[in-house]
Amino acid sequence: MCGIVGAVGCRQLRSYLIDGLKTLEYRGYDSSGLAFSHEEAPLIYRIPGRVHLLEEMVPLSLEAGIGIGHTRWATHGAPTETNAHPHISHSGLFTLVHNGVIDNYRALHQMLSDLGYQFNTETDTEVIANLIEHNYKQMGDVLKALRQSMKMLEGSYALVIIHQGDDERLFFAKNHSPLLIGHGPDANFLASDYLPMLKHVKDFYALTDHQFGYISKDEVAVFDLPGNSKAKISYHQTDLTSEDINLEGYPHYMLKEIEEADNVIRHLIDNYHDGRNYLFNPKLLDTITASDQLIFLACGTSYHACLIGKRYLEALGKRVDVYIASEWAYYPVITGKNPLFIIVSQSGETADLIHCVKNIKQYKFPLLTITNTKGSTLDREANFTLLLFAGIEIAVASTKAYVAQVTLLALLAAALKGDSQLIPDLYHVIEALKKVIDMKSKFEKIADFLATKENAFYLGRGFDYDVSLEASLKLKEITYIHSEGLPGGELKHGPIALIDKDTPVIIFVSDSLTALPIRSNLQEVLARGAHVIVISSQSLAKGKDAIVVPDVPVHLSVLPKVMVAQYLAYYTALKRGANIDKPRNLAKSVTVE
Ligand code: G6P
Repeated sequence: MCGIVGAVGCRQLRSYLIDGLKTLEYRGYDSSGLAFSHEEAPLIYRIPGRVHLLEEMVPLSLEAGIGIGHTRWATHGAPTETNAHPHISHSGLFTLVHNGVIDNYRALHQMLSDLGYQFNTETDTEVIANLIEHNYKQMGDVLKALRQSMKMLEGSYALVIIHQGDDERLFFAKNHSPLLIGHGPDANFLASDYLPMLKHVKDFYALTDHQFGYISKDEVAVFDLPGNSKAKISYHQTDLTSEDINLEGYPHYMLKEIEEADNVIRHLIDNYHDGRNYLFNPKLLDTITASDQLIFLACGTSYHACLIGKRYLEALGKRVDVYIASEWAYYPVITGKNPLFIIVSQSGETADLIHCVKNIKQYKFPLLTITNTKGSTLDREANFTLLLFAGIEIAVASTKAYVAQVTLLALLAAALKGDSQLIPDLYHVIEALKKVIDMKSKFEKIADFLATKENAFYLGRGFDYDVSLEASLKLKEITYIHSEGLPGGELKHGPIALIDKDTPVIIFVSDSLTALPIRSNLQEVLARGAHVIVISSQSLAKGKDAIVVPDVPVHLSVLPKVMVAQYLAYYTALKRGANIDKPRNLAKSVTVE
């Protein structure tokens, strides 16, 4: 993970780097640091804490031609000041920031130590700085040294590098971890994504793997590693604007994003249905129809959305399997003769999924990527892409992206089936979501109780079980309350041993088929002293249910139900004084395995 920035020629360099790092904190926020080019040695500021604390250390009057910055999600070494980036090579010739993980860092560390290089940190990044310095001392040219170092490095990296004494050029290299160039008339920029650069430039170039080079005030030079040839680059623009990252009066991005759900559904309808027909690529629909196995791969919240997608596509008679990407990456199972892989990823950059793609490519099977991030690695690697059009999601805990993933999978299944009823049904869901938004005071009251607890359980059957998993993940991510999502019927086979006086058990009731057995499960926990909170659909509601949401078709019931769960997690975290948008230990885009 980690977020990196760099710039040459930017008149507001200090604020570009600091504000830019703040927008990248979703990538990690254990520690942060900056380096500015300076005569004798770069000026370096590092802190084992968030960017707003780093900001206080950097003089307002600071001026420099070149600067780099980093916000860290620790992999090698604790989040201390020493391990915070930027890191400097042994003789101070190179100062760099890194996003990624170097797999062969131990071997390189040994090699460089044997050559007399000293190391001051526990990071794999310091190895890169020393390796580049070592190669530079042999070759006398930064680009040659970079190229040689890339040949020796195994793993993932986005690097932004200051070469001491070169006041004009800022060097970079990329493999697997994302890195973009922002090109302006009198300044050039580098960053892990668009957000830091939006205020400064309109033209972007997304570096591809094995590219390296430099930016200066008025030049962008990109080289491809194999062949060492100068790459032809063409700039593109992004639909994102700096307004997209405004809170618009909301206290937290998570709350804003929960309440954008209805718009997310509307955008998807507009993009995938023209009022008469579905607008999916016919080749994609043919590929799905022809394949004998659909294999979903995803992580976290996206994995939970795939569980719903599985139900949708199985209802069409397809064979569907869903795997957690980090498992399938090492234990791949393919039983069909002509499978289609479906990767679902909000960010399009998750390392576990990129690992899976390598396996898929090896077998030469087709890949559909469903992502919110156009131009992301997983978009570029796919044979087909379906965009989620959810708008940027900033809170680490995913909310509207899940709504978008479920909605898009419903649209895809309906297109395959030729079912036009889905569109009015989705408009009905939009109305239901508005009613859920009006229930906020109820959620706050329940959160008062939940906030005092250390354990919670979510129960459901069928679609309600899938939503229980996502509801439980949301609660643990942002409140740090331990929670589990369980199929209602499974409770008595073990977990019921954990039910005690006042243990919160949140039960979803959306399906008439299982309304009776799930209510029996309710009685089982009630008899053991649990504090039961029922979230039911109107037509299945009973007098004591805590929250009753409007009826929608069962297969879409996860949409209003998940919104309730997101609100409950949000308000519970608020009452516990947790850092809602940036929960501890987590990052939004997980670019390490
Ligand atoms: C991280 C995030 C989760 C997200 C998961 C998968 O763990 O904190 O919110 O669901 O990654 O991310 P992706 O971008 O692949 O959907």
